[in-house]
Amino acid sequence: MGRQVIHLPVMGDEVIHWLVVKNDGFYLDATLGCGGHSELILKRTNAYVIGIDVDREQIRLAEERLSCYKDRFMPINANFKFIDSFIGRPVDGVLFDLGYSTYQLNTPQKGFSYRMEGPLDMRYGRQGMTAYDIIEEWEAEEIADMLYRYGGERKSRNIARKIKDKKPRTTGELALLVRKSVPRRNGHKHLGRVFQAFRIAVNREMENIKQGIIGAFHVLNKNGRLVVITYHSGEEKLVLKTVNELGYTTLTTKPITPGKLEFNRNPRCRSAHLRVFEK
Ligand SMILES: C[S@@+](CC[C@H](N)C(=O)[O-])C[C@H]1O[C@@H](n2cnc3c(N)ncnc32)[C@H](O)[C@@H]1O
Repeated sequence: MGRQVIHLPVMGDEVIHWLVVKNDGFYLDATLGCGGHSELILKRTNAYVIGIDVDREQIRLAEERLSCYKDRFMPINANFKFIDSFIGRPVDGVLFDLGYSTYQLNTPQKGFSYRMEGPLDMRYGRQGMTAYDIIEEWEAEEIADMLYRYGGERKSRNIARKIKDKKPRTTGELALLVRKSVPRRNGHKHLGRVFQAFRIAVNREMENIKQGIIGAFHVLNKNGRLVVITYHSGEEKLVLKTVNELGYTTLTTKPITPGKLEFNRNPRCRSAHLRVFEK
């Protein structure tokens, strides 16, 4: 099968239902990706959308996909942590669909997937340290702490020591090293945890999410909506803590999760939790 280019927007109907408070409003898609959610907003409403992504290739793809909405759509290649410094007007809703897109996962050069051979890069954009830079520069203890904190990896010390010994350069080399450090039957679970932890560290995801949600608070109109889709408990906890500190009103006491139909169509949405807040 060829590379899957189009990332299916997760819980698209639910996002539109909760995000769009005004049919001709102004919305910010802070994680544009392939433009799936932005396309739904543009198709179903008369609203204006600003789409942000730190990955230039995602911006290019989304721009191409949404070219027929040129007069209502503006893409910006930037990190969402700086939202309030470049959004010059108040908006009615901000969407964060966190993590990586299917397109990025299936791009071997990005190094996100342990199933595909590629360099140990793992950056969404092109700035900052790569995963390999971390392996080179961090002490084994720092790597172990990172694997435990961001991946919940219990064999973190053992894996970190081996990483420093062998200095893997590719996804395949890192995957092999992890497989050799853990019981065989649980290999993929440990691989998922280790790759997730590196990705979070490389992209400083926790810092960005916190700053992004603070920035969203500043640019939202009163009664504007914040819709966040998280994919693991670490980011979900951080989102809840940050919105509480800021005084957002929570509109969804329990997370909204994908229905069975979507679940079968799009396995990536398996761990998605959608939460909605109001300023
Ligand atoms: C799950 S995808 C979004 C998919 C999109 N909602 C769709 O339906 O096509 C997440 C996107 O957020 C981007 N991203 C991650 N961290 C970012 C950040 N700090 N600033 C801007 N974009 C970021 C990634 O590059 C990726 O394209």
